[in-house]
Amino acid sequence: MYAQMIKSEATQEDPEKLTAFQARIDAGEKIEPKDWMPAGYRKTLIRQIGQHAHSEIVGQLPEGNWITRAPTLERKAILLAKVQDEAGHGLYLYCAAETLGVSRDELTEMLLDGRMKYSSIFNYPTLTWADMGAVGWLVDGAAIMNQVPLQRTSFGPYSRAMIRICKEESFHQRQGYDIMMKMAQGTPAQKKMAQDALNRFWYPSLMMFGPSDKDSVHSEQSMAWKIKMNTNDELRQKFVDQTVPQAEYLGLTVPDPDLTWNEETGHYDFTQPDWSEFFDVLKGNGPCNRERLAARNKAWDDGKWVRDGLLAHAEKKAARRMAAE
Ligand code: 3HC
Repeated sequence: MYAQMIKSEATQEDPEKLTAFQARIDAGEKIEPKDWMPAGYRKTLIRQIGQHAHSEIVGQLPEGNWITRAPTLERKAILLAKVQDEAGHGLYLYCAAETLGVSRDELTEMLLDGRMKYSSIFNYPTLTWADMGAVGWLVDGAAIMNQVPLQRTSFGPYSRAMIRICKEESFHQRQGYDIMMKMAQGTPAQKKMAQDALNRFWYPSLMMFGPSDKDSVHSEQSMAWKIKMNTNDELRQKFVDQTVPQAEYLGLTVPDPDLTWNEETGHYDFTQPDWSEFFDVLKGNGPCNRERLAARNKAWDDGKWVRDGLLAHAEKKAARRMAAE
């Protein structure tokens, strides 16, 4: 349904309106759901916010996998809270997307039939408890690096959702680093597990920022509209610069023999991820793509009776109200 709306909007685009819209963006004004917006702006936001919401929801799976096996009651309670936060983030983001005229059911259906993506990172398995540390530290760390600038994004509901999400993501990153610290300062076997988790999550975390700038399809237009505030490579570099000293503090080694501090640029030089692996994961061929989508499809099918029941209840209530009026 929303696709039709975008199509009809695109045919009616008036150059004067487009200029006025861009002027509002350039002046730093927030665009609100009922304001006029170009069809492409609406479409890009639905794609990006929807993909982000799906990432939060699918992202519960690799960590949910460890709730029953957390090493202590305290770690279990923290992990449980974190996974619940991710569900909450998904809900704020679906609500922000709904203000653009797409329904949550439409978004979910597009995820389940492969028309919409979720973050590549969640197609990697979590094999040991140390992976809970690496996910919190690196994956949530990369997510924050990307999301802090999005608090200033031009679309009001997205920017407001981001402010709350970022506060919670900071806690997530700290809890991950705390797990890594315990493991890195533990027995030699625990330190080895921490190093192994860093080895496996380093490059997939770098991939989270998206393809290199020369291969990014949407960056230029999205940055002009302030849907994105930085390029993929800018944020990736910032993440590397921030994370390498954190790894050193843990006494762990970043799995990149060519990683070097560059005095001239004031940044680390690092090896790019294997982009063929990234595009392969996007095509559905990562280690866990099939498992993740199967789990989401099952949850959707199993929840049908609840959705049907709630809808029937709401319809009955509305009919009763109308009859009484
Ligand atoms: N995973 C999957 N797909 C990706 C991707 C990734 N890591 N990075 C890029 N892509 C896709 C894009 O969606 C696009 O495909 P499409 O045209 O079919 O949609 C294609 O690759 C080209 O990339 P672009 O650089 O042109 O795409 P974008 O301009 O959309 O930039 C992005 C990609 C930087 C991820 C941007 O969409 C963004 O900032 N999104 C919001 C943040 C987000 O989605 N974060 C998810 C992280 S996980 C998370 O937050 C959960 C937390 O709990 C850890």
